[in-house]
Amino acid sequence: MGVGGVTGSVDGTPAAILAARWGVAELHWRESVSSTLDLLDELARRGAPDGTLVIADRQTRGRGRHGRAWHSPAGGVWLGYLARPGGATGVMALRVGLAVADALGSIGAQVSLKWPNDIMLYDKKLGGVLCEASWRGQSVEWMAIGIGLNVRGGLSEDLASRAMALAESLPDASRLAVLDQLVPRLVALSHAESLSAQELTAFRTRDWLTGRRITEPCVGEVIGIDSDGALLVRAATGTTRLVGGTIVTD
Ligand code: BTN
Repeated sequence: MGVGGVTGSVDGTPAAILAARWGVAELHWRESVSSTLDLLDELARRGAPDGTLVIADRQTRGRGRHGRAWHSPAGGVWLGYLARPGGATGVMALRVGLAVADALGSIGAQVSLKWPNDIMLYDKKLGGVLCEASWRGQSVEWMAIGIGLNVRGGLSEDLASRAMALAESLPDASRLAVLDQLVPRLVALSHAESLSAQELTAFRTRDWLTGRRITEPCVGEVIGIDSDGALLVRAATGTTRLVGGTIVTD
């Protein structure tokens, strides 16, 4: 398959029709890949344009933050989207989270966002965002945006206590219904380096952490995020800005 292609089909709908409907430059739909981010990276190295979308029915080596494995059986939305040149490394995952929340809201699921990349429904993890930047010297050549959403089933017993699938809340939910809402929002994503006042307000209304006490990576109460995407924590020593790490709540 060469770059420039629109390949695959979903539930009988050819990818070419979906690509036109969503306004994406390229759509590569596969039954199985190691990770949609691996395929996207390969396509990007071969010159794939801004707006290339990769979707897989399942991933055999899906990955999450900090190199964790991401369980990706059939029934979920596992996608990679290419933003070129794709700066905004500090805020893109938050911005993408807002797009996911908006998309899911439009089909009836009111999700929260747990900084920096978790999509939460009823205090359980519904999905996550993973952005990987490819650097050339000091500048970002492209950014691969990965989104994983549990739509129908496929959660192991181990995951069920802290994760859930969209269909548990919306029994009629389908991958296509989610993608129809989500992909056009990805196409319209801003590449601005900072979050706008409007994005900050939107995040505040979805913010899962604000008001909660955290114990890692520092102790204090979360009071929000700033326009650079940092998490603000009121600690005994004053306000601390966190730019990464795993948050542990009380
Ligand atoms: C996280 O919460 O740790 C982020 C999870 C991101 C998972 C998605 S699934 C599609 C894309 N391909 C991957 O291998 N990972 C991301």
